[in-house]
Order: sequence, then C-alpha cells, then structure tokens
Amino acid sequence: MALFSRVNLFIIIFKYLLTITPIFSYSNEVPNFLDLAKEPQVFEWMVDIRRKIHENPELGYEEFETSKLIRAKLDELGIPYKHPVAVTGVIGYIGTGLPPFVALRADMDALLMQELVEWEHKSKVPGKMHACGHDAHVSMLLGAAKILKDHEKYFNGTVVLVFQPAEEGAGGAKKILDAGVLENVSAIFGLHMHANLPLGEVASRSGPLFAGSGFFEAIISGKGGHAALPHHSIDPTLAASNVILSLQHIISRESDPLDPLVLSVTKFQGGAALNVIPDSVTIGGTFRAFSKKSFMQMRHRIEQVIIAQAGVYRCNATVSFLEEEKPLIPPTVNNGDLHDYFQSVAKSLLGADKVKGVELIMGSEDFALYQEVVPGYMFFLGMEDISVEHLAMAHSPYYKVNEDSLPYGAALHASLAVNYLAKLHQEVAAVEEKYHDEL
Ligand SMILES: *[C@@H]1O[C@H](CO)[C@@H](O)[C@H](O)[C@H]1NC(C)=O
Ligand SMILES: *[C@@H]1O[C@H](CO)[C@@H](O)[C@H](O)[C@H]1NC(C)=O
Ligand SMILES: *[C@@H]1O[C@H](CO)[C@@H](O)[C@H](O)[C@H]1NC(C)=O
Ligand SMILES: [Zn+2]
Ligand SMILES: [Zn+2]
Repeated sequence: MALFSRVNLFIIIFKYLLTITPIFSYSNEVPNFLDLAKEPQVFEWMVDIRRKIHENPELGYEEFETSKLIRAKLDELGIPYKHPVAVTGVIGYIGTGLPPFVALRADMDALLMQELVEWEHKSKVPGKMHACGHDAHVSMLLGAAKILKDHEKYFNGTVVLVFQPAEEGAGGAKKILDAGVLENVSAIFGLHMHANLPLGEVASRSGPLFAGSGFFEAIISGKGGHAALPHHSIDPTLAASNVILSLQHIISRESDPLDPLVLSVTKFQGGAALNVIPDSVTIGGTFRAFSKKSFMQMRHRIEQVIIAQAGVYRCNATVSFLEEEKPLIPPTVNNGDLHDYFQSVAKSLLGADKVKGVELIMGSEDFALYQEVVPGYMFFLGMEDISVEHLAMAHSPYYKVNEDSLPYGAALHASLAVNYLAKLHQEVAAVEEKYHDEL
C-alpha cells in the first residue's frame, strides 16, 4: 500500500512536470531548430522554393507544377509520400511509419489576381498571384521536412506532411479528409503568414479564430407581365426586396448581440426592360459565424425566411447553399489543450514576449474541416519589419512575403511535431505505468 501511494505520488509529480515543462524533449540531444532553419543550407533552400512557386502561381486543384516541385524536393530528401491525394495534394511521411502520428499542413493554391509588385520573382502568369502567402507556407513545410528528416532518429512516431490544394474556397481540406490519409492522426497544426505581425512573433487564441463561412443563392419566382398592369403579375422584385430586409432581421432580432454574425446579400438580379415585371429574381450572398451552432441556425433561418417571405407576396422560392462548388466552411476552433501546448513550445523557441494573442477574424480557413475530425491548432506567423516597410494585407495585389520569416515557420512546424510525439509517448508511458501499478 505504501509502495502504491509512493508510485502514485511519483506519477502525479511526473504529470505535473509534464504540464509545466516548457518543452517535452524526447531526447536532450534535439538541437535548436530555429538556429538550424536559419543556416544557409536550409534558409536559402526554402527561399529558392518559395520564389519558384511564386513565379508560377496555380489556382485550386491546378497546382500541378507546385505539386511536382514538392515531390522533387521530397525525393531529394528521401521522404516517402502519397500522391495524388485530392487531385494535386501530396502527403509525406517522416519517422517510423508507425503511430503516433502528428500532421503539419501547408496549403498550395494561388489567387485569381494580377500581381502589382515589381520584383525579380514576380508572377509570370498574368492574372494569377500568390497573394495569401501559400508559396511561403509550402516552402516552410518543406524546410521543416528537411530539418525533421535529418533528426529522424530523435523521434518515435510519424510526422505526416500535408500539402493541401485549394484552400481558397474550393474545400481542398475536405478532399484530403475524404481520401482517409489523416486517419489515426493525433493532432494537426497549421500556420498562416500575418502581414502586420512583427517578424519573429506568433499570435493565436484558444477556441474560435476564423469564422465559419457559407454562401446562398435563391430564385424567387412570380409571374412576369406588363409593368403598367401589376395586378396581372406576381411581382418577384418586390418579394425579393422584402426578403432581403427580413434576412437582415435574423441577426438584429434573433441572435445574441454578443455573438458576432454577418449576413451580406451581395447579388440581386432580375429583369431588364423598364416596363416589364420579370418572371423571377435571383438573390445571393454569404453568412459568417464563430460557432457551429449559430452557423447552422443561420443557414436554417436563411432558407426559412426566404421561402416564407416570398410566400407573403405569392411568390415561390428555391434556396441553394452551393455546397458542391463552395463547401460550407465551419468556424476554425482551436483546441484548448493544443493552445497551452503551442504556447509552451513557441515561448521556449521564440521567447515569451513573442507569443501574442489575436482578435477574432471574420474571414474563414478550411483548416476548420480538419479540426472537426482531429484536434487541431492554427496560428499566425509574423513577418513585418517596420524598419524596412509596412506590408500589404493578404489578397492585396501589393502583397509581399518577408522571406526572413521562413526559418521561424519551419522551426515552429518541426518543434511542434517532434515535441508533440514526445509528449504522446510520455503520456502513454505514464498511463501504462499507472495500469501496471494498479494490476
Ligand atoms: C517507440 O515507442 C514504442 C511504443 O511506445 C516503443 O515500444 C519503442 O521501444 C520505442 N522506440 C524507440 C526507438 O524508442
Ligand atoms: C488506422 O489504424 C487502423 C487500425 O490500426 C488501420 O487499420 C488503418 O489502416 C490505419 N489507417 C491509416 C490511414 O493508417
Ligand atoms: C408556386 O408553387 C405552387 C405549387 O407548385 C404553384 O401552384 C404556383 O403556381 C407557384 N406560384 C408561382 C408564382 O410560381
Ligand atoms: Zn487567402
Ligand atoms: Zn491563405
């Protein structure tokens, strides 16, 4: 009995140490990944990859050359991978190939816009640009892969590299999940460049980070006719106008004022002649929310209000949420335990004063889809050096990446993965020891 309680006490102390130790070193020999990532053979290698991808931006599910470049680099490093996954996606594996598995994600797609930055490695494809930093995301994940491969013997388990297509609205994450490659993964981490966060800093929060985002389109049908004889028609224009007003009341009258929601009607199409009442009017827009519950409630009410309000004017309505082309993206919600874990790893790598909080963001991220299946964590990586210049926001034609940020992203990816595998092993060992004692 005395022995048991001493062992239990030991486990309690051990668990306590686990929760407060800033970094769960599997082996004391693991070097500082940030110093390594800043060395020219890693840093310049990443810069070169990033510039190649930047010059040849490819849209969602068309990342053929990007995918080919990623595979060539993985071949160079001797890292096995699965391809194609989700059309152009690549899934790499570093480590034992056995559980536990921890995943790191980078998105690969560019945007349909013209680059206006004049520099040596400007986009060579007119009308397409990496203006969201996904070129940097890919190069940092490859940088992490290079470091991790060199230190494969220091960790027990497998790091799964997720190079994902089509983040910008076409649901690449969903296709990756549908392919089943994230089965058995214990956690997934992702990062996004942040133009207005200082270089060397990171920012994130526990719980909701990005909003959930959905789209809708409705056809409101009446009966067209001569505008001078409205009583012979059923006017869908008036019906659509009232539908739009009623939609605005969903947020102003039905939702908690402390729960931030957006519903914007952005499309109103119908009729052409000034003396003809049209047969039908099409309206559409987008809606955003930070909880799945509010999001699904809004979706439900949008459909109900459109149909019922159209009915007031004797019109019929059909509502579509366009889920085939634009999958609903749920809110991006960071796991609380992973938040604590991230903070400890980032603070020990960057310094406590470099790890910041961040406000909620109304934009959306399809990383949310992973988080519905696997505990997941997403954070921002700073890159602004105001002594040099203020950087433009993502999706601006003047968007620039400060390449000095690349080592930080690579080192964070590598540290998050290796320490997480070590943490899982220590937890398993602690549980096994407990079972052993109880038997
Ligand atoms: C890896 O972990 C497994 C399961 O905990 C253990 O059996 C094995 O001995 C470990 N291997 C190394 C090289 O530490
Ligand atoms: C996940 O684990 C199960 C059970 O061990 C195994 O059958 C399955 O193949 C694994 N899936 C992947 C993608 O590794
Ligand atoms: C609405 O649908 C009902 C049932 O299908 C139909 O009888 C009616 O004519 C429709 N009204 C309009 C304005 O299209
Ligand atoms: Zn974007
Ligand atoms: Zn992005």
